[in-house]
Amino acid sequence: MNWCVVSMRMSKQMFGSFGSVMLVPFSCFRSLSFSSNSHFTSSHLQQQQHQHLRSSDLVSFEYSDLNLSYNLDQGHVRIRQHVNPLSASFSVPAQVPDWNMVFADPTLPLMVDIGCGSGRFLMWLAKRNPKVSNYLGLEIRQKLVKRAELWVKDMTLDNIHFLFANATISFKQLVESYPGPLRLVSILCPDPHFKKRHHKRRVLQKPLVGAIVDNLIPGGQLFVQSDVLEVALDMRIQFDEFDALKHIDTLNPAMPCDDEGWLLRNPMGIRTEREIHAEFEGAKIYRRLYQKQM
Ligand SMILES: C[S@@+](CC[C@H](N)C(=O)[O-])C[C@H]1O[C@@H](n2cnc3c(N)ncnc32)[C@H](O)[C@@H]1O
Ligand SMILES: *[C@@H]1O[C@H](CO)[C@@H](O)[C@H](O)[C@H]1NC(C)=O
Ligand SMILES: *[C@@H]1O[C@H](CO)[C@@H](O)[C@H](O)[C@H]1NC(C)=O
Repeated sequence: MNWCVVSMRMSKQMFGSFGSVMLVPFSCFRSLSFSSNSHFTSSHLQQQQHQHLRSSDLVSFEYSDLNLSYNLDQGHVRIRQHVNPLSASFSVPAQVPDWNMVFADPTLPLMVDIGCGSGRFLMWLAKRNPKVSNYLGLEIRQKLVKRAELWVKDMTLDNIHFLFANATISFKQLVESYPGPLRLVSILCPDPHFKKRHHKRRVLQKPLVGAIVDNLIPGGQLFVQSDVLEVALDMRIQFDEFDALKHIDTLNPAMPCDDEGWLLRNPMGIRTEREIHAEFEGAKIYRRLYQKQM
């Protein structure tokens, strides 16, 4: 593979310890909307990026390991911003799948991502951890689930599955029927539903909170984050209640928080799409990582 060193005028926050210089596989560059002229220089790039870099390019870039760019167009779907919350199909729990049919080894520890969006965050993790962990994405927009399933098929991963489900009412039955242990649950940048009378549409409701805490194995973790302080606080207040959940900074000094108790870094090794867009716009991400007591 050809590599090029690129000086990027982006905030350090975006690429963490890479700072402002990155090694970029040449092929990734072509998937961004930069000039594919091979004579370009670093200053050309800086100029171009300044003018043209969009956060969707950053998303493709961050997920370039998945090698999905070649079928992104084919998989392009127009997706409405919100689903109709009154639709009857969202008020019945999803059917529990035959776990033997969806995972090669359904006894592996499970990670569940609630409101997984495009699913690429979870695919990245699944590709990194074959035969170690299974990954389940729950998403209420059916088109996103269909596209994610096509991608998974192309990638021939056997440790990931996506379900069209209202996580608020489906999570409990799903994880309680799963043969292996529940190792990790994530709720990342959930839809905010700002108006007070719409708070009941938020994905994290009391019964879901209980089902997560009850079903995590001892030592299992819960990761929540939002770029909206109010939404992050809403989740935090609900989980801080539980003595069984300890925040990670009290257990692991390598994972420090700021003065307000928000985790300083994303502990997953990859950002979600919403997170990339929000950081591109300069927003802060409010994160909490809990561990269930042994
Ligand atoms: C703002 S997006 C964030 C997606 C992804 N986690 C990220 O950080 O990029 C929130 C996602 O949650 C999904 N969602 C909202 N309510 C849900 C529910 N009750 N069950 C499952 N998914 C839900 C939405 O359809 C949307 O895809
Ligand atoms: C990406 O996928 C294309 C199409 O299947 C394939 O030709 C190419 O070799 C893949 N690249 C990598 C780096 O896996
Ligand atoms: C999911 O189910 C809950 C509980 O029935 C409901 O309040 C919520 O509106 C549903 N979510 C969506 C997005 O339809």
